[in-house]
Amino acid sequence: MPVNFLATVYVEGRQAIPYYDTLKVAVPALTLLYAMKYYFAGKRNTWQRDMHGKVVLITGGTSGLGAQTAKELAALGAQIVFLVRNVHDGWLIEYINDLREATNNQLIYAEEVDLTDLYSVRKFATKWIDNLPPRRLDMIICCASVSQPISMPRQTTKDELEPQFQVNYLGHFLLLDILAPAIRAQPPDREVRIILTSCASSLTGEFNLEDLGYLKRNYPAYRPFLVFGEAKLYLALSAYELFRQFNNYKRKDGAPCNVHVSVVDPGMMRSPGFKRFITFGRLSLLFVYLLLWPLSWLFLKSSVDGAQSMAYAAMSPEVVEKREVAYISNCQVRPPPPRSEFKDPEKQAALVKETHKLIEAVEKNSAIERNKFKKDSEKKKEQEKKKEKVNKDKPASKK
Ligand SMILES: NC(=O)c1ccc[n+]([C@@H]2O[C@H](COP(=O)([O-])OP(=O)(O)OC[C@H]3O[C@@H](n4cnc5c(N)ncnc54)[C@H](OP(=O)(O)O)[C@@H]3O)[C@@H](O)[C@H]2O)c1
Repeated sequence: MPVNFLATVYVEGRQAIPYYDTLKVAVPALTLLYAMKYYFAGKRNTWQRDMHGKVVLITGGTSGLGAQTAKELAALGAQIVFLVRNVHDGWLIEYINDLREATNNQLIYAEEVDLTDLYSVRKFATKWIDNLPPRRLDMIICCASVSQPISMPRQTTKDELEPQFQVNYLGHFLLLDILAPAIRAQPPDREVRIILTSCASSLTGEFNLEDLGYLKRNYPAYRPFLVFGEAKLYLALSAYELFRQFNNYKRKDGAPCNVHVSVVDPGMMRSPGFKRFITFGRLSLLFVYLLLWPLSWLFLKSSVDGAQSMAYAAMSPEVVEKREVAYISNCQVRPPPPRSEFKDPEKQAALVKETHKLIEAVEKNSAIERNKFKKDSEKKKEQEKKKEKVNKDKPASKK
């Protein structure tokens, strides 16, 4: 049959091909479209590890990049512990059940860690390290993120901080800081990988230790994307000091450090967070976004594409062979963004020192507020009890 067809085309010319005129235009157009889609989707991860029995803590695992990364690791048999802001959310229970079914992995559960509340982070992390023998830990993935739409007025968290700064940087910093002893206590033959997510916006952030928590700077018009960039910059820079601290740690058994830190830039993705950011959180712009969807489909990555670099950070041996922080984008270890702070260990150490100071001050303040709140509510309860007693003791006629 193909021989007959080819012979006919040979004898009668290209016009013998059915729909030749349409195909003449459609085939190159579709090939170009496919080539563009392939190019913009980025490289695929080709490494795989046996993840059975490995324990993975992940923030932001309920959406976009984090959800896709968790799914891939769960499918390979890892025990996934989602760190989420509300464990009692009905949707979360369904999400976990669906994931267990889809990946045929029952070892998936959630713990409460609200990154906008340092007390919540501390409660989880201290509970985790308060265990003898130390709990197994193979990987920590920090994917949680908040990016406020440009039009949004300044907001503050429970800890009175800017939410993007707290979720993207401070909350994750405290989590890793408290978990550090549990990471160091892992047996020397156990590879522990810490994966942080950053993005190109770290180029726009200011390095400002005078006002680390973005407390003093109040631009005439609040610019959320600058705070976001700053938080992402700090998270990436802190990775370098974190790695140095693990690497300089002297184990009692004399074994070398087996902790590996990566910073991943997954590229622009059509994730729920990105949609919220690009549409300024407005319904009218969401409509425009939907109209322009073919363009974002073509030029932006899906969460599956973005998660390729996360999978690379989780599986590739290059991350382990590299005895320094691996900055990863497009499934490759690359140089960090062109900023002097990435080459300046003193600045990185200063950032970590200032961050500790800020955390101490914020936690002190929050503890005072919590105690005040506790005392006030106890007082209220007592007053209510007294009122009830007085009402009971009154003779029936006077009531
Ligand atoms: N999207 C992009 O184009 C892009 C580009 C470069 C880098 N990145 C980075 O990739 C990572 C993932 O991005 P994404 O767009 O996939 O994110 P996303 O869809 O917006 O998801 C954000 C995740 O963070 C969680 N989260 C938010 N606030 C939290 C809190 N207070 N405590 C605990 N968890 C909280 C969310 O939980 P809920 O489900 O409870 O909301 C959600 O799971 C981020 O670090 C982002 O900066 C993204």
